[in-house]
Amino acid sequence: MRETIRFLKGGEVIELSDVRPTETVLDYLRLRCRLTGTKEGCGEGDCGACTVALGRLVNGRMVYRPINSCIQLLGMIDGAELVTVEDLAADGRLHPVQQAMVDLHGSQCGFCTPGFIMTLFTLYHAEGEEKSRKTVCDWLAGNLCRCTGYRPIVDAALNACFEAAGDAFAWRANETRDKLRAIMDSRDIYINRDGFFASPATVDGLASLYAANPDATLVAGATDVGLWVTKHLADLPKIIWLGRIAGLDRVEESPAGVLMGATATYADSEAAMAGLSPALGELWRRIGSKQVRASGTIGGNIANGSPIGDTPPALIALGATLELQSKDNERTLPLEDFFLEYGKQDRKPDEFVTGVFVPRPDANQIFRCFKISKRFDQDISSVMGAFRFTVVSGTITDARIAYGGMAGTPMRAKGAETALIGAVLDNPASWGTAMKALVSDFKPLTDMRASSEYRMETARALLAKALMEASGSDPAGLNVLDHREAADDRAA
Ligand SMILES: Cc1cc2nc3c(=O)[nH]c(=O)nc-3n(C[C@H](O)[C@H](O)[C@H](O)COP(=O)(O)OP(=O)(O)OC[C@H]3O[C@@H](n4cnc5c(N)ncnc54)[C@H](O)[C@@H]3O)c2cc1C
Ligand code: FES
Ligand code: FES
Repeated sequence: MRETIRFLKGGEVIELSDVRPTETVLDYLRLRCRLTGTKEGCGEGDCGACTVALGRLVNGRMVYRPINSCIQLLGMIDGAELVTVEDLAADGRLHPVQQAMVDLHGSQCGFCTPGFIMTLFTLYHAEGEEKSRKTVCDWLAGNLCRCTGYRPIVDAALNACFEAAGDAFAWRANETRDKLRAIMDSRDIYINRDGFFASPATVDGLASLYAANPDATLVAGATDVGLWVTKHLADLPKIIWLGRIAGLDRVEESPAGVLMGATATYADSEAAMAGLSPALGELWRRIGSKQVRASGTIGGNIANGSPIGDTPPALIALGATLELQSKDNERTLPLEDFFLEYGKQDRKPDEFVTGVFVPRPDANQIFRCFKISKRFDQDISSVMGAFRFTVVSGTITDARIAYGGMAGTPMRAKGAETALIGAVLDNPASWGTAMKALVSDFKPLTDMRASSEYRMETARALLAKALMEASGSDPAGLNVLDHREAADDRAA
């Protein structure tokens, strides 16, 4: 058992025993260390002003990812290198991304600038990224600038981020690796201060700790829980962080499908999802921002039970199964059965999610999923539709259709599914009963994101779009052109 957390900052090992359960990385930096280069804007993961980089060893290699320090709990940086804007300039010279921002006029008031710099720092260290405005826009989707405008910032990124990394972090990568290896261990962490921050190292350790403390809050990426702390000022005296549990972050691909451990992040699972279906890869890219995808996990997205979470409808349409465990039991169930009603899931007090298995679509199955939100980037869905059609000789023999945003839980459209059996793909008239049945499948609510009428019309339009694409129509011709990507194409 260890009663401290350990991380690297500026080449030094920092070991802390006085970590409060819900202390954030941002509060640690600004209030304790007086490192005020990192800014606080929204406090909820949306603006990126608080972005810092976390370096971790992945398969023996240093990988730097951007995180929103405002919603990341301090204990969660155990075993990582924490890099803030104060660490970048070396020997009196600006870092290449800082210099490019100066040269290309990427900053005016400067409030957002440290956050942009830190995201660009992680792009600078990323491998295999294609040099394009689209790539840069994807990386910067989680950073807002109110006054400069994005063109000079994107220009700075294109200028600085696509050469082989040659900064001080690259020069001392071996030394950093050795220091990280020295501070990482497989002991459980338990820090008893104003409650506890615990981080078990094994699934069995988690099961025992959770059985003894079923009132504790499980934390995976904290992209939801962090907001309970910063926005609802929730008092969460018992935190169990799942991020150090060996093997719980696995992503295993096989001919049958993909098994994702509960703590696999969106970033870790994106390639495997794209391998199952390009539509799924595109959905993953649309979740939150780079910062959110670096921390947010598949287990958290399912366990939070949100009716507008993006992954459950897609995984339900694909026929996914969920794995749950407690001290005395392990079980699996179809993912759709996990969601009982709004705010209620089939999870016992000491049970936790360990993984989800997603079957690979057969050669005769067509899968599509579409996310509809007010903004292209960094926005929660108003409606999310996912469709898997099994097609034999042009006729639909089976359909699985699931929506988010249409009910209190992610839910299948059972009436439309039944009505589609026997429909012929190249005869749109045969789809009519399914389009009508959809209206009886759901009674969507009106809320701040969308009206009930909008949701229903959109759900019907998405079903029609999925069927048209399945029947061979050119998907690009069916898209409402996205403004950002069209502008990128013009600028390229
Ligand atoms: C700026 C921003 C943008 C976002 N954009 C999107 C988006 O586009 N689409 C979308 O779907 N979501 C979005 N989200 C929501 C959030 O990212 C997801 O819900 C995320 O998947 C939650 O995962 P997490 O690991 O961060 O969960 P946490 O915040 O760590 O936990 C969430 C809940 O799940 C529980 N939990 C976590 N892991 C387990 C487990 N293994 N077993 C049992 N319970 C567990 C926790 O106790 C908590 O109740 C966004 C959030 C932010 C802040
Ligand atoms: S302060 Fe806005 S994302 Fe953290
Ligand atoms: S420079 Fe002012 S907000 Fe970006």
